[in-house]
Order: sequence, then structure tokens, then C-alpha cells
Amino acid sequence: MIEILVLYYSQGGAVRDMAQLIARGVESVNGAKARVRTVPKVSANHEATEPDIPTSGAPYAELADLEACAGLALGSPTRFGNMAAPMKYFLDGTAGLWLKGALIGKPAAVFTSSGSMHGGNETTLISMMLPLLHHGMLITGLPYSEPQLSTTTTGGTPYGASHIGGSMDDRPISDDERKLCIALGKRLAETALKLS
Ligand SMILES: Cc1cc2nc3c(=O)[nH]c(=O)nc-3n(C[C@H](O)[C@H](O)[C@H](O)COP(=O)(O)O)c2cc1C
Repeated sequence: MIEILVLYYSQGGAVRDMAQLIARGVESVNGAKARVRTVPKVSANHEATEPDIPTSGAPYAELADLEACAGLALGSPTRFGNMAAPMKYFLDGTAGLWLKGALIGKPAAVFTSSGSMHGGNETTLISMMLPLLHHGMLITGLPYSEPQLSTTTTGGTPYGASHIGGSMDDRPISDDERKLCIALGKRLAETALKLS
């Protein structure tokens, strides 16, 4: 049995819901299991601390989760066309793993939720790939053999899964977005199995 780490940050819940769909895609593959983890908020007040255990949702990730996984799905909301600070902060703490080459050769995929259609969800997906490439991970996207990539009128890109929440963040995950989240998790797990 291989484990895929589904690591996300979410403030409003959209990326959290996508993470659950991606985990469902991972677990649709025989021999693959998803480990879902989140990261704590960061605060401008550096004396503020988060509780060790989140009040709801997935547990916080540890570096050991990254080291142990056979593949990684990384999700963050779009913030000014980039990943959110809590995810960047967590990734900035992974230099020890980089020094050891702990993630070299592991497959990875990325996902995001944004308010608007053309407000930077694709740049956010690409921004999340950059540190993973430095770690030597093998990036997997979504191929156009997934029919929803051609039919979606909301999110879903060849760079990874995405959701467009709308200006009030009240749009539910569309059917196409949902299927593409599941397809991404499935593809990641299948790739990890082939590589392991
Ligand atoms: C500080 C901040 C910056 C944001 N920047 C963008 C942006 O550049 N483009 C966009 O489309 N949405 C932007 N949004 C909206 C979020 O990406 C969107 O609400 C997302 O669905 C939130 O995901 P979550 O529910 O998982 O937290 C921003 C939101 C915040 C709070």
C-alpha cells in the first residue's frame, strides 16, 4: 500500500473540499491510500500561536508526512495570483528535506481555488510547482483525454485542478471541477504506484 499526502491550506473551505475529492480519486486506485493534512495559519503578530491540533478539519502536516509519502497533492487558495502565505511558510521550512533529497523522484500535483476566472488561478498552480521542482519532484498535470478539460465553463486546467468560487465564494464545486479533482488524485496515485 502506498500513501499519497494531500496537503492543503484553506480559509473558507473551498480548497478543503477539493482536497477531499482528490483524496477520493487517490483511494479509487487499488493499493493507494490518502493522508490528508493541512498547515496552520501564520500571523503578523509573531507572538500569536496556533493550537497544536486544529479545531476542525485535517491534522497539521509534519515534515515526516512529506518524507513518508509516495506522492504529494498540494493545494492552496489563490492569493494575489500566488499561493497563500501559510503554505509558502510551511514549504520554506522544508530545507532539511531538500538537503537530504528526500522528495527527489516522487510525483506531485497541485490544486487551487480562486474567486475569479481570470484572476490568477493558473499562475497560482504554477507558483506551487516551483518549490516542488526544486525538491526534484515529478509534476503531473491533467491530460486532455479528461473530457471535462474541454467542456468546463468554470475551473479545471492542464496544470492541475481548480475551482472558481465567485466574488462571494459561494459557487459550489461544479460537476466538471469535481470530476477533474478526482481524476487528478487518481492519476497521481497511479503514477506513484508505477514509480514505486
Ligand atoms: C488576500 C486574498 C487575496 C486573494 N487573491 C485572489 C486573486 O488574486 N485572484 C482570485 O481570483 N481570487 C483571489 N482571492 C479569493 C480566493 O482565492 C478565493 O476566495 C478562494 O476560493 C478561497 O479558498 P478557500 O475557501 O479554500 O480559502 C483572494 C482572497 C484573499 C483573502
